[in-house]
Amino acid sequence: MTSWLLWLVVVFTMIAVGKGKQNVHQECHPNDLKGLASFKAGIHVDTSGRLAKWVGHGCCRWEGIACNEATGRVTEIRLPGFISTNDSVFQSQMRGLLSPSITLVSCLEIIDLGGLIGLAGRIPPSIGLRLPNLRKLYLYGNKLIGPVPDSIGKLSKLEELHLYENRLSGSLPSTLGNLRNLKQLLLYSNELAGMIPDSFTNLTNIVQIDLHSNILTGHIPERIGEMQVLEKLDLSKNLLTGKIPLSLANLNSISEMYLDSNHLEGEIPFPSSFGQLSSLSFLRLDDNHLTGRIPASFGNMISLQRVSLENNKFDGVIPSSLGNLSALTELYLSGNLLSGQIPESVGQLSQLIMFNVSHNQIQGPLPHELSSLQNLQTLDLSFNHLNLISFPKWLAQLPSLSRIYFAGCGIQGEIPDFLQATPSPIQELDLSSNHLTGSLPAWLGRLTQLYKIKLFKELTCFKDPCFRNAFSDGSLTYVDLSDNYFSTGIVQAGVGSQTGIQYLNLSHNFLEGRVATTIGRLKSLQTLDLSCNRLGFNLPEALANVSSLEKLRLQKNHFTGRIPSGFLKLTKLKELDLSDNLLAGEDSCG
Ligand SMILES: *[C@@H]1O[C@H](CO)[C@@H](O)[C@H](O)[C@H]1NC(C)=O
Ligand SMILES: *[C@@H]1O[C@H](CO)[C@@H](O)[C@H](O)[C@H]1NC(C)=O
Ligand SMILES: *[C@@H]1O[C@H](CO)[C@@H](O)[C@H](O)[C@H]1NC(C)=O
Ligand SMILES: *[C@@H]1O[C@H](CO)[C@@H](O)[C@H](O)[C@H]1NC(C)=O
Ligand SMILES: *[C@@H]1O[C@H](CO)[C@@H](O)[C@H](O)[C@H]1NC(C)=O
Ligand SMILES: *[C@@H]1O[C@H](CO)[C@@H](O)[C@H](O)[C@H]1NC(C)=O
Repeated sequence: MTSWLLWLVVVFTMIAVGKGKQNVHQECHPNDLKGLASFKAGIHVDTSGRLAKWVGHGCCRWEGIACNEATGRVTEIRLPGFISTNDSVFQSQMRGLLSPSITLVSCLEIIDLGGLIGLAGRIPPSIGLRLPNLRKLYLYGNKLIGPVPDSIGKLSKLEELHLYENRLSGSLPSTLGNLRNLKQLLLYSNELAGMIPDSFTNLTNIVQIDLHSNILTGHIPERIGEMQVLEKLDLSKNLLTGKIPLSLANLNSISEMYLDSNHLEGEIPFPSSFGQLSSLSFLRLDDNHLTGRIPASFGNMISLQRVSLENNKFDGVIPSSLGNLSALTELYLSGNLLSGQIPESVGQLSQLIMFNVSHNQIQGPLPHELSSLQNLQTLDLSFNHLNLISFPKWLAQLPSLSRIYFAGCGIQGEIPDFLQATPSPIQELDLSSNHLTGSLPAWLGRLTQLYKIKLFKELTCFKDPCFRNAFSDGSLTYVDLSDNYFSTGIVQAGVGSQTGIQYLNLSHNFLEGRVATTIGRLKSLQTLDLSCNRLGFNLPEALANVSSLEKLRLQKNHFTGRIPSGFLKLTKLKELDLSDNLLAGEDSCG
C-alpha cells in the first residue's frame, strides 16, 4: 500500500517536472532566435554577464527578453547599461557592433540598449521597414555612428526615440515629421548637421524635443508653435541662425525652453498678449546675438523661475514688469547693453536667489527696495556705470547674501568694516577694479566661510603683519590679490597656514625677498602666479612637494640660481613660466 502511494507521488512529480521542462524548452520563433543570436554574436564584451546566459532555444526566458503570451513572439529587448536592483546600482558595458539582424525580431515593441557605452556600428537602415510595432527605441549613450535612417519615419507607432549621446551624423530626416505618435525626440549630443526639417511642425503629439549640442544650422521652423502639447524644447548649443519664430508664443504647454548658445538674432517676439507662455518656468536665450529691449510684457510670463538672457545685445532699461515674476529665483542679464537704473520692482522678487547684471551700462543709485530681497544669495553688479562711491551698507544687511561681486563699481576708500559682520557670512567677495585704498583688514582672514576673494588695484601692505593677520587661518581656496601695491608678507608668512588654497595670484605687486618654504604646505595649490614682482634668491624648492600644481608663473622677478631638479616631480604641471629672471640655465657653462 505504502509503496503504491509512493509510486503515485513519483508519477505525479514526473508529470509536473515534465510540464516545467516543456516550458523551458519551448522554442521561440526561428527569426527571433536568429535575430537575438546575431545580436549576441556582435557583442564581444558584456560586463553584466547577461548575454552569457542566453543559451538554448527558449529565448522568451532569457534575461532582458519579453514575449507576447499569445503569439510567443519577442516583443521587448531590455538590456540597459545601468542596472538597478533593490539594494545596488551597477553600470555595465557592452562592447561590439549592433547587428543589423536585430531587425529579424520583427514584432519588437521596445528596444532598450541605452547606456551600454561601447555599442558601436550603425542604426540598421531597414529598421523602419522591419519593425512596424516599435514604440520605444533607446540606443542612447553608446558609440553609434552614421545617420538616423530615413526609414525611421515609417515607425508609425513610435512614441519615444532616445538616440542621444552617440556620434550620429548627417541631417535630421524629414520623415521624422510623419511620426504622429512621437512624444519624445531626444537626439542631443551627437554630430547632427543641416536644418531642422519643416516637417517637424507636424509632430503634434510631441511633448519633448531635445536636440542640444549638435551642429544644426538654418532657422528654427516658423510654425513650431503648432506643437501644442510640447513641454520641453531644447535647441541650445547648435549653430542656428535667424530670428526666434513668432509662433513660439503659442506653445501653451511649454515649461522649459532652451535656445541658448546659437547665432539667433532679432528681438524676443513674446509674449504678445497676456496668458501666452504662462507655463514657461525655465527660459534660456543667452549667448546669441539678440537685440532690442527686453519686452515690457516679459512680466506676464508668471511661471518663470529661471531666466538667462546674458551675453546678447539687449539694450534699453530692465522692464519694471519683471517685478511681477513672483516665482523667479535666478535672473541672469549680464553681458548686454542694458542701461538706466535697476527698477524698484525688482525688490518684490521675494524668491530671488541669484541676480547677475554684470557687464552692462546700469546707472546708480541702487534702489533701496533691493533690501527686501530676503533670499538673495548672489549679487553680481560688476562693471556697470554705477559709480557707487561707497559700498551700500544696507545691502550688506541682506539676510542671505553671501556672494558679493561689486567689481568696477567705482567704490572708493577702505574695505568697509561692516563686511566682517554680515548676517550671512561672506563666501565670495570680488571688489576688484575699484579705487580701494588702505591695507588688507585683519578680519578678512577670520571670515571662516570665505573661499574666494578678488581684490585688486591700489591696496597697499608694506608691513609684514598685515598679511599674517589677514590670512592666518580660514578656508580660502581662491585668492586673487594681483595688481596691488603689496610689498611683503603674504608669501613669507600668512598663507602658509591656508593649506586649502587652490588658486593664488599675487602677480603685479611689489613683493620682494625670498619666497618662504612654508609655500610647500599649500598641498592643494593648482595655480600659483607670482609673476611681475621683485622676488629674489633661489626658486622656492619647497614647491617640488606641491604635487597638485598645474600652472606656475614666476616670470619677471629677480630669481637667481638653478631650476630645482625637484620641479621634475611636478607631473601635473601644464604651464611653467620662469622667463625674465636671472636664472642659470641647466646647460650653461657659467
Ligand atoms: C525588491 O523589493 C520588492 C519590494 O520592496 C520585493 O517585492 C522584491 O522581491 C525585491 N527584489 C529583489 C530582487 O530583492
Ligand atoms: C504635414 O502633414 C500634412 C498632412 O499629412 C502634409 O500635407 C504636410 O506636407 C506636412 N507638412 C510638412 C511641413 O511636412
Ligand atoms: C503687475 O501685474 C499687475 C496685475 O497683475 C499689473 O496691474 C501691473 O501693471 C503689473 N506690473 C508691472 C510693473 O507690469
Ligand atoms: C555673472 O555673469 C558673468 C557672465 O556670464 C559671469 O562671468 C560671472 O561669473 C557671473 N557672476 C557670478 C557671481 O556667477
Ligand atoms: C593673475 O592676475 C593677472 C592680473 O590680474 C592676470 O593677468 C593673470 O592671468 C592671472 N594669472 C592666472 C594664472 O590666472
Ligand atoms: C617635502 O616634504 C618632505 C616630507 O614632508 C620633507 O621632508 C621635505 O623637506 C620637503 N621637501 C622640500 C623641498 O621642502
